[in-house]
Amino acid sequence: MSLSTDERLKAVLGELCPGDKVADVGCDHGKIANLAVQITGNDVFAIDISAASLKKTKDLSRELCQEERVVCLIGDGLFPVDNTDVDTAVIAGLGAHEIVRILASARKRYRKYVLVPHRHPDVLRRYLSDNSYGVNKDFIIKCGGKFYPVIVACGEGNVKYTSFELAFGKTRNEAMNEYMAERKKTLTAIIGKANGESLEKAEEELREIDKYENKRNNC
Ligand SMILES: C[S@@+](CC[C@H](N)C(=O)[O-])C[C@H]1O[C@@H](n2cnc3c(N)ncnc32)[C@H](O)[C@@H]1O
Repeated sequence: MSLSTDERLKAVLGELCPGDKVADVGCDHGKIANLAVQITGNDVFAIDISAASLKKTKDLSRELCQEERVVCLIGDGLFPVDNTDVDTAVIAGLGAHEIVRILASARKRYRKYVLVPHRHPDVLRRYLSDNSYGVNKDFIIKCGGKFYPVIVACGEGNVKYTSFELAFGKTRNEAMNEYMAERKKTLTAIIGKANGESLEKAEEELREIDKYENKRNNC
């Protein structure tokens, strides 16, 4: 049986390497955990807080005859792998506030994190910067008409973000340009409807987009 993957899952899996010891937090359908076994060559821990979600991973592992290789654990965040030799944490498809809570409550730091927050990525970027994480990659991908940030971090470092990067990541690719154009429309509409009330955060993001566009147009 071959598993279908979309661009978002491909981007996550593309950051895993042979030898990584992976925990997939919020495993749900189980595709990341099952494919991670094949990429890394190691057993993978699949964690979910919901028994119903974890069952999906178990069912998929069984179908793929990988039941022994995908170790399913019910629990919150990274707690279930506290006493293992996991070195790579994948946390995809959760909101940034929840990802921050999971990172902040973990008992140790990991060598590699592959993080895909589905909302408020600026909150996660600020947390990584304020808490001495390193960031090796931070890029936007487009999948099914939506945009997702993919952040590859490490437990030790000194990442810094500009105001622009907090909103749009560190990689100037085509998806980032499209996402920025979409945000510009949304922010302009929000500010247009504001009836004089102050929308400081939206206005600041829009100023950052304008600065970026001016620089790009003058190159
Ligand atoms: C939208 S799914 C994401 C599935 C997959 N990671 C992906 O990116 O396609 C989110 C999953 O995270 C689980 N989840 C939410 N908070 C969690 C937490 N604190 N610890 C573990 N799992 C959590 C939910 O039960 C759900 O199954």
